[in-house]
Amino acid sequence: MHRLLEELHHYHQTISATIDQMKNLLGKLKGDACDAADRQQLFALLESLHGDAETRHHQNEELIRRLLLTTRAPVHPRVLDIERDHQGFARIAKQLKTLEHSSLTPREIATVIEDYTHKYYDHLDSEENIFFPLADKWLSDSQWQEIKQQWQTPKS
Ligand SMILES: [Fe+2]
Repeated sequence: MHRLLEELHHYHQTISATIDQMKNLLGKLKGDACDAADRQQLFALLESLHGDAETRHHQNEELIRRLLLTTRAPVHPRVLDIERDHQGFARIAKQLKTLEHSSLTPREIATVIEDYTHKYYDHLDSEENIFFPLADKWLSDSQWQEIKQQWQTPKS
């Protein structure tokens, strides 16, 4: 796999680890065993999913995705959905933040966040199993060069 795709893949692993941590807290929230510290940690994790790293990651994926659509690669509907997902996640992130101070019950909050994590996993699945392999197969060296020039590197 191309080195840049590996970088994206590695980021997915980091995100998956965060979501796994959230799942544990969501379980507590649903069972009413969640205290204020758990709740705070849950929202901190949620926030960490929507920082600069996430924005850069999506921008990098969009660079690849747009070039892929100019090749003769078969256009898979899930590759088209990825752009909508990226826009949707940014919007959902804002809505999820408002949950922290909402009047919803813990169980209702858990359901909304869980729904989001399922969507996120589906999105990672499309990228890793459909989008990345297509990009790896169809993009030429010069196209990868073009991507590399606009690549957003993580801030250290
Ligand atoms: Fe991704």
